Amino acid sequence: EVMMMAFKDGFLWGGACAANQFEGAWNIDGKGISVADLCTNGTKSNPKRITTKIEDNTFYPSHEAIDFYHHYKEDIALFAQMGFKVFRTSINWTRIYPTGMEEEPNEKGLKFYEDVFKECKKYGIEPLVTLSHYEMPYALVEKYNGWASVEVILLFEKYCYTVFDRYKDLVKYWLTFNEINGGITKLGTVLSLGCVKDYNGPVVEADCSPQTRFEALHHQLVASAKVVAYAHKNYPQFKMGNMNVFLTSYPRTCDPLDVLENQRHNRVLNWFCSDVQVRGEYPSYMNRFFKDNDVNLKISEMDKVILKEGTVDFYTCSYYMSSCITTHDDVETVEGNLAGGVKNPYLEVSAWGWQIDPDGLRYSLNEIYDRYQIPIMVVENGLGAYDKRSDDGKIHDTYRIDYLRSHIEAMENAVEDGVDLIGYTPWGCIDLVSASTGEMAKRYGFIYVNKFDDGTGDYSRERKDSFNWYKKVIASNGKEK
Ligand code: BG6
Repeated sequence: EVMMMAFKDGFLWGGACAANQFEGAWNIDGKGISVADLCTNGTKSNPKRITTKIEDNTFYPSHEAIDFYHHYKEDIALFAQMGFKVFRTSINWTRIYPTGMEEEPNEKGLKFYEDVFKECKKYGIEPLVTLSHYEMPYALVEKYNGWASVEVILLFEKYCYTVFDRYKDLVKYWLTFNEINGGITKLGTVLSLGCVKDYNGPVVEADCSPQTRFEALHHQLVASAKVVAYAHKNYPQFKMGNMNVFLTSYPRTCDPLDVLENQRHNRVLNWFCSDVQVRGEYPSYMNRFFKDNDVNLKISEMDKVILKEGTVDFYTCSYYMSSCITTHDDVETVEGNLAGGVKNPYLEVSAWGWQIDPDGLRYSLNEIYDRYQIPIMVVENGLGAYDKRSDDGKIHDTYRIDYLRSHIEAMENAVEDGVDLIGYTPWGCIDLVSASTGEMAKRYGFIYVNKFDDGTGDYSRERKDSFNWYKKVIASNGKEK
């Protein structure tokens, strides 16, 4: 009997990284300062900060990160050994336009990514490129308060058109904004929106008014649609995707008020941005939200046309955890869960308090596909964990294998349920700097990097147990796990 394979032929197995979290070389070859370059490191209990200037005697993890800038050949060769079909990375805007405002792009920056993409192609690895992954030029924060200003749209377009033109023969899959809906959360104020002019302090405490937040998001949604429409017109070979952080939530009880509150929460957090990016217009439920929160958006007729013309070809998301929503106040909250919310008694948490929920991935993929009926890629997923060296000197990361296996099984079930899933790129396929805490100690990789939170380490790379395991998964197209 021939077993049916859940994952289709040509399924895009791979891994994901982001420029600011792994390249290092923050001021090399003409690169300008990005928001990420002003973020210090922290821990779960001692939050990372953003500073307005580079301070002496302060550690900024993005400055060196894991130095992919000088190790890319070695790293891509390791990805190829695992059998990657796709590698998701991002372009650091400030390598191309150091302040975002130059007339001419920086050739050395352009050349670097050309080399990286060519190196991928050498092994038949398809690059999947995020245009903006928490790497806004800091000069635009100083001048414009980030995405709060409409002027930034044109600057972003200039950057995107430059890289589209340069990499048109090397890159086919593009994502506009990483976790665009993260801009709705407080954490997104720094990383995603850059609405932190003059702000010096913990990243988790940065805030802006709902009015500023949703104006900034509107600018990003318009910018995203503009570059998608431009790509479709000029580069028909491109496939353009959105990128959403999917923070699955359940009603904590069957009290209809919990169900309603969960629906309200989900619409704003999980559906609003992708509804705009996939369907091409603001969903009607947002009118109620804007009214309740005193948000007044000026959406011009022109904006409406742009949003309609710039809908994406495929949907992508990150998926790490789920949470519960309730109107009752007698339940424990989950600390560290990015989605916030209350504790789900059926789920375990990671060392950083993120609730692990593979079934939630199956559920979410079904919900997403029911709503949009376009191809889906899970472009981030994984377990941030403390890796320890065993007596035999190796890293036996069985906990990571268990996490990934259960999520791959969930995806397999989602495919059997009818979801058109086209790819999977687990996060931090090589250890890198954590976005939320700035730590190296929160590791996700199949590849261990000898680099630590005190800045020490020789950057050497080594395979964890998960490396050979994932290689088998890819070789068997998901059957052997
Ligand atoms: C996503 C981001 O939120 O989750 C990544 O797109 C990030 O940039 C990843 O690194 C994991 O989060 P963290 O905080 O563990 O690095």
